Amino acid sequence: LVEVRAAKETDLAAVLALHGTDDRPASDSERATWAEMLRTPNLLVRVADDDGQVVGTASMLVMPNLGYDCHPSAFIEAVVVDESSRRMGVGRALLRQLLQDATDRSCRKVQLLSHKRHRDDGAFAFYESLGFTAEAEGFRLYLST
Ligand SMILES: CC(C)(COP(=O)(O)OP(=O)(O)OC[C@H]1O[C@@H](n2cnc3c(N)ncnc32)[C@H](O)[C@@H]1OP(=O)(O)O)[C@@H](O)C(=O)NCCC(=O)NCCS
Repeated sequence: LVEVRAAKETDLAAVLALHGTDDRPASDSERATWAEMLRTPNLLVRVADDDGQVVGTASMLVMPNLGYDCHPSAFIEAVVVDESSRRMGVGRALLRQLLQDATDRSCRKVQLLSHKRHRDDGAFAFYESLGFTAEAEGFRLYLST
């Protein structure tokens, strides 16, 4: 049975594996970043736990803002389900939990970006199946820091 829960310190290796890093120990900066992510109050990091095995993850940042009658806006990032667990409702369970989290925090708008290369690989269809509409253009600028 898949349970969606808050990520914890010990999930780091599994989450890195989902993001496609090789089977290597986490670096110091990954460990520090993970610790910071978990203690950032407006950042919700969720994992899908299948009987002790992490098979998916998704994160959401809740940003206070003056628009929308001072209701916060939510931004979803880093959505990934392990290849062997796809099309079993894991992604849907993760996103439904985040949408519940956003509702609990009184968010009016939930936003996410999905690269155009995902137009035909199922990701767009996945988000649309959850009620998202592609009504905005996404803009990005990469900085060489
Ligand atoms: C996109 C992704 C997160 C979906 O997760 P998932 O657990 O497989 O999705 P679910 O099983 O919960 O699917 C829910 C619904 O989304 C739609 N959907 C999901 N994958 C789909 C696909 N490959 N093709 C068409 N529709 C799809 C379907 O409507 C599906 O319902 P159904 O299976 O009853 O038809 C997963 O495929 C993934 O990790 N892909 C690689 C990483 C990625 O692209 N992340 C998003 C980048 S922004």
